[in-house]
Amino acid sequence: MTINIAVVPVAGMGTRLLPATKSQPKEMLPVGRKPVVQYVVEELTRVGMERILFITGPGKTSIENHFDVNAELIQNLRETGKEDLLVELEFERAPAQYFYTRQRRLLGLGHAISCARPFVGDQPFVAALGDSIIGLNASSDVVRRMVDIFEAEKATAVIAFEEVDPAEVHNYGIARPKTSGDIFEVADLIEKPAVDEAPSNLAIAARYVFAPAIFEAIDRTPPGKGGEIQITDAIRLALHEGGKVLGVRLHANEKRYDIGNFEAYFRAFVEFALADDKHGPALRQYVESLTNAHHS
Ligand code: UTP
Repeated sequence: MTINIAVVPVAGMGTRLLPATKSQPKEMLPVGRKPVVQYVVEELTRVGMERILFITGPGKTSIENHFDVNAELIQNLRETGKEDLLVELEFERAPAQYFYTRQRRLLGLGHAISCARPFVGDQPFVAALGDSIIGLNASSDVVRRMVDIFEAEKATAVIAFEEVDPAEVHNYGIARPKTSGDIFEVADLIEKPAVDEAPSNLAIAARYVFAPAIFEAIDRTPPGKGGEIQITDAIRLALHEGGKVLGVRLHANEKRYDIGNFEAYFRAFVEFALADDKHGPALRQYVESLTNAHHS
C-alpha cells in the first residue's frame, strides 16, 4: 500500500511576521495569487496524497474555510456573470479529504507532528510544513521521489534537503551525509551550525516521510531549543538507535520558499508575481523603473 496521508502543521504563531500575522495565519498570506497553504496542498494532492491532516491552533479557522466548497460564492459568481472566475475555485474539488486536529499547546514542530498519531496510527506518512512552497508555483514532485525511496529502502525517515549558501547554514538543520549523490544516507543532523562547523551545506527543506516509529522517538525526545520538542532531535534519536534516514536533494528548479520571515516572504512574493502570466511582464517593467530611478 502506498503512502497517501500528509500531515501539514500550521499551528505556529508566526511571530516573525507580526503584525501581518496578528489575526491571520501566516499560512494564509498570499504569494502571488494564492495563499501559501494552497500551494502546499496542490503539491501534495498532485503526487497522490488523498488525506490531508492539518495540525491547527487558535486563529487558524480561515485555513479550514479556504478548503471548503463555498456553494454560495459559486452561485454568486454565476448569477453576476462572473463565470470566468469559477476556474479560480477549482482547487476546492481536489480529490482529497481534509482533516483537522488542534495542537493544544505550542510545544514545537515535533510535538505538532505527534498530534497526528491517533489519526495516522501505524502507517507511514508525509509531513509538509504549511509555510513552505517547493518550486516556483509548487511545481515540485520531490514528495513522490521521497515516497518511492522510502518504500524501496524501508527507511525510518526520508528528508528533503536544499543546498544553501554556506553563509546561511546557521539558519537550518544541516545534514552530515554518509554517502554522496541526489539520494544519500544521513549520518547525522546538526541544528543551526556555525559555518566552519557545518559538515555540508545541505539544509532540511520542509518535507519529510516518516515511518510510524517516529512517534515513539518524539515521545522520548526532551524539549530542546526554545523549550520546544524539535522534530530534528527526534529524527536524530531514531538515527542513533539504528534507524535508516535518507536524504533527497531538491533539484536546481525546486527552490524552497519558506515564508517564515519578511525577507524570504518578500522574495517569494516578488518572484511569483514576476512569473505571473498576466501581470508578470508589466510588473517587471515597473520594478525595473523603480530600481533605475533609485540608482539615478
Ligand atoms: P516555525 O518555527 O517556522 O513557525 O515552524 P512559528 O513558530 O509559527 O514561527 P515564529 O518563530 O513564531 O515566527 C514551522 C512550521 O511548523 C508549524 C508552523 O505553523 C509552521 O508551519 N509549527 C511550529 C506548529 O504547527 N506547531 C509548533 O509548535 C511549532
